[in-house]
Amino acid sequence: MKILFAASEALPFAASGGLADVAGSLPAALNEQPGLDCRVVMPLYRSIQPKTRNQMTYLGDITVEVGWRKQYCGIYQITVGKVTYYLLDNPYYFMRDGMYGFHDDCERFVFFSRAVLEILPAIEFQPNIIHCNDWQTAMIPVFYNILYKYHQEYENIKIIYTIHNIQYQGVYGKEVITELMGIPTYHTNLLEFDGMVNLMKGAFETADRISTVSPTYAKEILDPWYSYGMDRALVRRQDPIIGILNGIDVNGYNPETDPNIAKNYTAAELQGKKVCRKALLQECGLQDSDAPVLGIVTRFVAHKGIQLVQQSFQEMLQAGCRFAILGSGERFYEDFFREMQSAYPEQVHVTIGFVPALARRIYAGADMFLMPSQNEPCGLAQMVAMRYGTIPIVRETGGLKDSVRDVGGANGNGFTFKTYDAYDMQNAVKRGCELFADKRKWNALVRRAMKCDFSWNVSAQKYIEMYQELMDAQSIFD
Ligand code: GLC
Repeated sequence: MKILFAASEALPFAASGGLADVAGSLPAALNEQPGLDCRVVMPLYRSIQPKTRNQMTYLGDITVEVGWRKQYCGIYQITVGKVTYYLLDNPYYFMRDGMYGFHDDCERFVFFSRAVLEILPAIEFQPNIIHCNDWQTAMIPVFYNILYKYHQEYENIKIIYTIHNIQYQGVYGKEVITELMGIPTYHTNLLEFDGMVNLMKGAFETADRISTVSPTYAKEILDPWYSYGMDRALVRRQDPIIGILNGIDVNGYNPETDPNIAKNYTAAELQGKKVCRKALLQECGLQDSDAPVLGIVTRFVAHKGIQLVQQSFQEMLQAGCRFAILGSGERFYEDFFREMQSAYPEQVHVTIGFVPALARRIYAGADMFLMPSQNEPCGLAQMVAMRYGTIPIVRETGGLKDSVRDVGGANGNGFTFKTYDAYDMQNAVKRGCELFADKRKWNALVRRAMKCDFSWNVSAQKYIEMYQELMDAQSIFD
């Protein structure tokens, strides 16, 4: 079975969010299975250092049409572990600082999507499945259905589209259809949504399967509260949306071997976690006390539930909680945390930015991990936190609901609350603080959380079943 996994970011080459973790670990997990060859295709960004570039093999270049333009596309190949990566080069589109947020993002990722299809003859890899992810690759199934599927070299490819976050859809003016996509205007209906061109909607119309990154999110996105308008586009599909919970790279995130933390530890021997806690308090200049240390590692955007944290902050400080916070995003929230740090320097420490090693020191050194998202397609941080024995406090949504069970029930591994409400969150934090005071019970909880299996083992199998089922099925468009 040959899979081409298309993503706009993938570890170890480029990352801005959870998609890069998934693209950097699911293909590797799939390739553990006999007979499976999953390869990754992504853009060659400026941030990929010359040292890494020099290790790549240049396979040649092709020309890719972007509307009336004919663009160069260099193809580079590199193997990491058991996974082959193809990095697509176009200096004009990708030699910039940063990955997204440019005025011509639509053009850049229309180019990338078209290039993914165009390189297939050149790389001599004929996939059975192209697995697309998020809006940046949403044009792949659209192009495939309109322009490629009747060509002999392209016959019988099935396309899966995975939603990692339904909020980011790729919405542009209708002129992009002729100007950038070069597809006949009578296909406008495939992409049109609410008077605009919506790339994600195009994938919903043309992909053979739609999946998302947790079973709960698969249901939630049919509800307008969660769908950012897309429920109307999703319900048109006859087939169910498949929800498969992400795994994490349990070897990369392992407190027993992680070189970034003060002392390694295991569920059986938790002494090292105490050392990590002390080191974190010291690094952040926080006061040492018996009350819990709460970690927050996130993007400071509304849907991560920062508002609830803000509304409850004083109460949590009064309960003695200390905060080690890492993230960046909206200025409003960055300023709030900065102000809190200057008002309560012994209780609050914030680092604005994306510092992977510090994230790990927070996962290891904190007692609890606060993640009260308004919506969370999957969420990886709560799983990483548990792997490091840090107990998550989460709202019951998306992948948070599917990975964290409240201690009030059987096999609890964290604290959960239902309603998007500051008091409900405070209540969960309060329950956390109370249990934290009982060291024997708390350590048992820590051990239970650390023993949860968040590896890709189960989920990779579910992807394989989905691939297999698709390969056996007739295309819905045949
Ligand atoms: C997006 C989602 C996050 C998910 C990740 C990987 O970043 O917001 O919840 O874990 O994709 O699928």
